[in-house]
This record gives sequence, C-alpha cells and structure tokens, in this order.
Amino acid sequence: MKTVHWLFTLSVALFLTGIAFVIAGARAARRAPVVVAAPAVVPIASVKQIMKGIVGPAANVVFSAVSTTTTARGVEEKAPQTPEEWEAVGNSAAALIESGNLILMGNRAIDQGDWAKFSRQMIEAGKVALKATQDKSADGVLASGEAINASCDDCHLKYERK
Ligand code: HEC
Repeated sequence: MKTVHWLFTLSVALFLTGIAFVIAGARAARRAPVVVAAPAVVPIASVKQIMKGIVGPAANVVFSAVSTTTTARGVEEKAPQTPEEWEAVGNSAAALIESGNLILMGNRAIDQGDWAKFSRQMIEAGKVALKATQDKSADGVLASGEAINASCDDCHLKYERK
C-alpha cells in the first residue's frame, strides 16, 4: 500500500512537471517566434533559354490560335473550338505572363528602366490574351497579338545583341 502511494505521488509529480515544461515551452515560443527561412530562389536559365524554351513556343501558340485565310474555296476561319483547345491557348498565354516575371528575377533584369517596362508590357499583353481565352473570344485573342508582338519587338530592338 505504501509503495503504491509513493508511486502515485511520483507519477503526479512527473505529470505536473510535464505540464510545466509544456507551458514554459509555449511561453518561450510566443516570445521568440520561430523564423523559418524560405529557401532561396536561384535563377538558373539564361534569358536566351527562357526565350527559346518558353517565350517563343508560347507566343507561337497564341499567335497561331486564331487566323483567317482566304483560299480559292473561300474564307477559312481558324479558332479554338473545344474547351480543351481554349485551355491550351490560355496555358501558353499564362506561360508568357510568367516568363515576364522570370526575366524580371535576379540578375536577368538588365535594368529597372526599359527592361522592366518591356517585361511588364509582355505580362499585361499576356493577361489580355489569357482573359480572351477564358471568355472564349477569338476576336480577343487575335487583338491581343499586336500588343504581345510589340513587347517582343520593343525589347529585342533595344536589348538583343545581333
Ligand atoms: C524584356 C525583354 C524581352 C522581351 C519582352 C522579349 N524578349 Fe525575346 N529576347 C530578349 C533578349 C535580350 C534576347 C537575346 C538573348 C541572348 O541572345 O542572350 C531575346 C531572344 C529571343 C529569342 C531567341 C533568338 C535567337 O535565336 O537567339 C526568341 C525566339 C525570342 N527572344 C522570342 C521572344 C518573343 C516571341 C517575345 C514576345 C512574346 C519576346 N522574345 C519578348 C529580350 C526580350
């Protein structure tokens, strides 16, 4: 009986000590919030690789999504038809938008002046194209092409070394 009583007291004491530790721990945690450092984002691809690997192919999809061809048989209108076809064009518009973000990252951004301006032009023009695919507007996709193309040309004129 005496032993049982002794063990009981010990276990209660251990239990209380445990709770004390938990409370102390919680207080310490409140005082010093644990800062988890976000893993550093390390740009790997060159601007040229992004252009050839992402921007060029994505722009081609958007540019060729909607067209009107006049042949001997008459006028042929080409535009995405199914939800999947619209989505595919939208995915490429999204790739253009994110490429604009990629070329603004780290030392890819050659300056914060015209480089940033032309990159943002590509982003904004890509957004117009993306919205048009979501609205399933062939006219909208066609119209977005001009602004997309202007962003490519303006930047290449100033920054692409020939
Ligand atoms: C903010 C600037 C900028 C914008 C916007 C931009 N580019 Fe570029 N692009 C460059 C630069 C700089 C190079 C040259 C990279 C090099 O050779 O190192 C390049 C090169 C390229 C190349 C590779 C050419 C080659 O064969 O060497 C392609 C393709 C290309 N761009 C497509 C596009 C298209 C399409 C768009 C528009 C949808 C676009 N770029 C928008 C800056 C830009």
